Amino acid sequence: MRVGKIPGQVVRLAIVLIASLVVLLLVRARFVPESFGETGHYRADVVPAIAAQPIRYAGMQACAECHDDVAEVKASSYHRGLTCEGCHGAAADHVEDPVEATPAVPSGRESCLRCHEYLGARPTGFPQIIETIHNPMEPCAGCHDPHEPTPPAVPGECSACHRAIASTKSVSHHWSLDCETCHLTPQKHRENPRAHLPEKPVAREFCGRCHDRAAESAATVPRVDMADHGGRYPCWQCHYPHDPEGHS
Ligand code: HEC
Ligand code: HEC
Ligand code: HEC
Ligand code: HEC
Ligand code: HEC
Ligand code: HEC
Ligand code: HEC
Ligand code: HEC
Repeated sequence: MRVGKIPGQVVRLAIVLIASLVVLLLVRARFVPESFGETGHYRADVVPAIAAQPIRYAGMQACAECHDDVAEVKASSYHRGLTCEGCHGAAADHVEDPVEATPAVPSGRESCLRCHEYLGARPTGFPQIIETIHNPMEPCAGCHDPHEPTPPAVPGECSACHRAIASTKSVSHHWSLDCETCHLTPQKHRENPRAHLPEKPVAREFCGRCHDRAAESAATVPRVDMADHGGRYPCWQCHYPHDPEGHS
C-alpha cells in the first residue's frame, strides 16, 4: 500500500498507532473511575463515600460512661493500654441500644493468644506463654481477670490444692512428715500443676528408709522385717501412705 509519496510501512504504522490510541481511550473510559485525578492521584469521590459509612466503633470514653467499674479496674492494670473494643469488637450499636445489641464476650483462649502466644518476633520482655503447656485445660479467664490480668498468687502450701490429703495426714501417724519428704516437687507444680507433676515413691525400699530394722530413724518409729513383711507388694498396697495405720 502506498498513499501519494508516503511509504507503505509508515502508513501501516500510523494505522496501528491510531488503533492503539482508540483502544487505550476506550479502556480508560471503562476502568478509571470518574473522579480520578480531580484532587490528586486518587478517586476524589472516595472521601464522601467513606465519610458516609456508619460509625462502628464508639471509642473507650463511651464505654466508661456506663461501665465505669470495668474502666477503673482496667486503667491501673497491665491492660491499661488496650481498648475495650479491641477485645469486645466494634460496639457503637451497643452504645445506641445497650440491651438489644450486646457486644461479643470473647471467652475462648484464642482471643488472648492473639497477643500472648510465644512468637520470637515479639518485643523482648513482652509477657508470652506457650499455649500447649500453660494450663492447657482451662480458659484464661478462669485464672486471669481479663480487665486486670495480674497472674494469680501462687499458693505456697500443698494444702491449698490438696486439702483432703493434708487433712487426712494431719491426724495420722505420718502427721509429722512433710509432704516433700516423700514427693520431690518442682516449684512449677504450684503454678502449672499438671504440666510439672511431683515424684512419687516407687519401691518398698523408700518406706524402708525409716521402717527397716536397720534404719537410722527415731527409736519410736515402728520397724518391720523388710524381707518378708507384706510379701513383695508395694507397701501402699496395704497402707495408705497419708494414713498408714488404716491398713486393710
Ligand atoms: C449507655 C450505657 C452503656 C454504654 C455506653 C456501654 N454499655 Fe455495655 N452494657 C450496658 C448494659 C446496660 C449492659 C447489660 C446488658 C444486658 O445484660 O442485657 C451492658 C453489657 C455489656 C457487656 C456484656 C455483654 C454480655 O453478653 O454479657 C459488654 C462486654 C459490654 N457491655 C461492653 C461495652 C463496651 C465495650 C462499650 C463501649 C464501646 C459499652 N459496653 C458501652 C450499658 C452500656
Ligand atoms: C483483653 C481483652 C479485654 C479488654 C481490653 C476488655 N475486656 Fe471486657 N471482657 C473480656 C473477657 C474475656 C470477658 C469475659 C470474662 C469472663 O468470661 O469471665 C469480658 C467481660 C466483660 C463484661 C461482662 C461482665 C464482666 O465484668 O465480666 C463487660 C461489661 C466488659 N467486659 C466490659 C469491658 C469494658 C467496658 C472494657 C474497657 C474499659 C473492657 N471490657 C475491656 C475481655 C476484655
Ligand atoms: C491486644 C493485645 C492483647 C490481648 C488481646 C491480651 N493482652 Fe494481655 N497484655 C497485653 C499488653 C500490652 C500487656 C502489658 C505488657 C507489659 O506491661 O509489658 C499485657 C499483660 C498481660 C499480663 C501480665 C503479665 C505479667 O505478669 O507481666 C497477663 C497475665 C495477660 N496480659 C493476660 C491476658 C489474658 C488472659 C488475655 C485474654 C483475656 C489477654 N492478656 C489479652 C496485650 C494483650
Ligand atoms: C490455672 C490458672 C491459669 C490459667 C488457666 C492461665 N494462667 Fe496464665 N498464669 C498463671 C500463673 C499462676 C502465672 C504466673 C506464673 C507463671 O509465670 O507461670 C501466669 C502467668 C501468665 C503470664 C505471664 C507470663 C510471664 O512470663 O510474665 C501470661 C502472659 C499469662 N499467664 C497468660 C495466660 C493466657 C493467655 C492464658 C489462656 C491461654 C492463661 N494465662 C491461662 C495461671 C493461669
Ligand atoms: C495450685 C494447686 C496445687 C498445689 C499448690 C500443689 N498441687 Fe499437687 N497437684 C495439683 C493438681 C491439679 C494435680 C493433678 C491431679 C490429677 O491429675 O488428678 C496434682 C498432683 C499431685 C501429685 C500426683 C502426681 C501423680 O503423678 O499422680 C502429687 C504427688 C502432688 N500433687 C503433690 C503435691 C505436693 C507435695 C505439693 C506441695 C509441695 C503440691 N502437690 C502442691 C495441684 C496442686
Ligand atoms: C510417707 C510418704 C508420703 C507422704 C508424707 C506424703 N505422701 Fe503423697 N503419696 C505417697 C505415696 C507412696 C503415694 C502413691 C500411692 C499410690 O500410688 O497408691 C502418694 C500419692 C499421692 C498423690 C496421688 C493421689 C493419691 O491420693 O494417691 C497425691 C496428690 C499426694 N500423694 C499428695 C501428697 C500431699 C499433698 C502430701 C502432704 C500433705 C503427701 N502426699 C504426703 C507418699 C507420701
Ligand atoms: C521419714 C521417715 C518415714 C518414712 C519415709 C515413712 N514413714 Fe511410716 N512412720 C514414720 C513415723 C515417724 C511414724 C510414726 C511413729 C509414731 O507413731 O510415733 C510412722 C508410722 C507408720 C506406720 C505405723 C502406723 C501404726 O499403726 O503405728 C505405718 C504402717 C507406716 N508408717 C507405713 C509407712 C509406709 C507404707 C511408708 C512408705 C510409703 C512409710 N511409712 C514411710 C516415718 C516414716
Ligand atoms: C499385704 C499387706 C501389707 C503390705 C504389702 C505391707 N504391710 Fe505393713 N502391715 C500390714 C498389716 C496387716 C499390719 C498390721 C499387723 C502387723 O503388725 O503385722 C502391718 C503393720 C505395719 C507396721 C506397724 C508395725 C508395728 O509394729 O506397729 C509398719 C511400720 C508397716 N506395716 C510398714 C510397712 C512397710 C514399710 C511396708 C512395705 C515395705 C509394708 N508395711 C507393707 C500389711 C501390709
